[in-house]
Amino acid sequence: MISQIFSAAPYFDTENINGIINEIKATLKSGTLIDGPHVHAFEKNFAQYTQTKHAIALNSGTAALEIMLRFFGVEGKEVIVPTNTFVATPTSVLLCGGKPVFVDINAKTLCIDPEDVKRKFTSKTAGIIVVHIAGLICPEINELKNFCRNNNLFLIEDAAHAHGATIDQKKSGNLCDGGAFSFYPTKVMTTGQGGMITTNNSEMAVVAQKMRDHGLNSERIMVMLGDNWCMSEITAILGKYQLANLERFIERRNEIAKHYTCSLSKTDSISLFQTPKNIRHSYYKYPIKLNNIDRNKVILVLKKDFGIDTGGIYYPPCHLHPWYLSNFKTQKNSLPVSETVLKDVLCLPIHLGLTNKTVDYIIDSLNTCLLRLSDGK
Ligand SMILES: Cc1ncc(COP(=O)(O)O)c(C=O)c1O
Repeated sequence: MISQIFSAAPYFDTENINGIINEIKATLKSGTLIDGPHVHAFEKNFAQYTQTKHAIALNSGTAALEIMLRFFGVEGKEVIVPTNTFVATPTSVLLCGGKPVFVDINAKTLCIDPEDVKRKFTSKTAGIIVVHIAGLICPEINELKNFCRNNNLFLIEDAAHAHGATIDQKKSGNLCDGGAFSFYPTKVMTTGQGGMITTNNSEMAVVAQKMRDHGLNSERIMVMLGDNWCMSEITAILGKYQLANLERFIERRNEIAKHYTCSLSKTDSISLFQTPKNIRHSYYKYPIKLNNIDRNKVILVLKKDFGIDTGGIYYPPCHLHPWYLSNFKTQKNSLPVSETVLKDVLCLPIHLGLTNKTVDYIIDSLNTCLLRLSDGK
């Protein structure tokens, strides 16, 4: 049996590690640990990659969301968010004094359902956050964009899963008013902790640059409320190296995904998700849907008998977290698609550390596990 297989893992090859160490040494000697050449270069390269006018480096993806929401001013207003996301998405709305309004998902994409967005829209709605779940750009992004334009709403992309994903050849983070990226260790590219705003809105970029540094202007005078959300030079060094490898990372993730899709398409007890032809998936996750098999049992057997870590995306959905149920009075059975579909979604390991042989092992193990469980053994 192969030793433990993680569902996600960061990837730095030896050449990159050596390059990173040398740059860190030079940075430590230089004494410039913040707001220096590496942060500036990482921002420039990221903006170039996403083909946006601006990229503003931060210390988390949550900060990226919060800064954009503060820029738009959501205090006392509603912001529509999919319930299928990491809790950071609605939390960022709450931290800005806004009210997250949860909406349901499209069962075929696991992304926000535009029809439910229209049902939940009120005179208090300030904007929408769309999440490109698992690395799939929300296929209805243009419909949402038109809806926002017609109703004077902002549209933010939570692109934490979707570095380098495209729709009609256009990169995530360059599709709406602004993109929020996370560089958390499980993500398609990582800096340990870190985040980035991408935008073509120059006014937002100027506000973000001040807000990330306690609301201070270039003369160190506080001109707005801010926080300590700056990225460090050492973090930016990691970011530069990861970004230089991002295309390779996405290609390999797509190769692994293709391997899974080809090998699992005829397995009766699971359904696979389709990617529309005009979208390049980043495959942050490879989700499958289990048909009439208990997901928790599959997770347990894969882990215990085969050493394979798997996960979900996301169960429970945000509105079923105990905090939201008790403090926010969200209700069970209020978002039926999310509640029925997500509990059966399982994410198979996908990252650069997997060889083809390991992927074959995961496929064989999953098939054995599903056979066993459908026989009731
Ligand atoms: C969808 C989504 N939004 C936001 C975040 C928050 O990013 P960070 O952990 O960098 O604050 C994450 C990260 O885990 C995420 O997956």
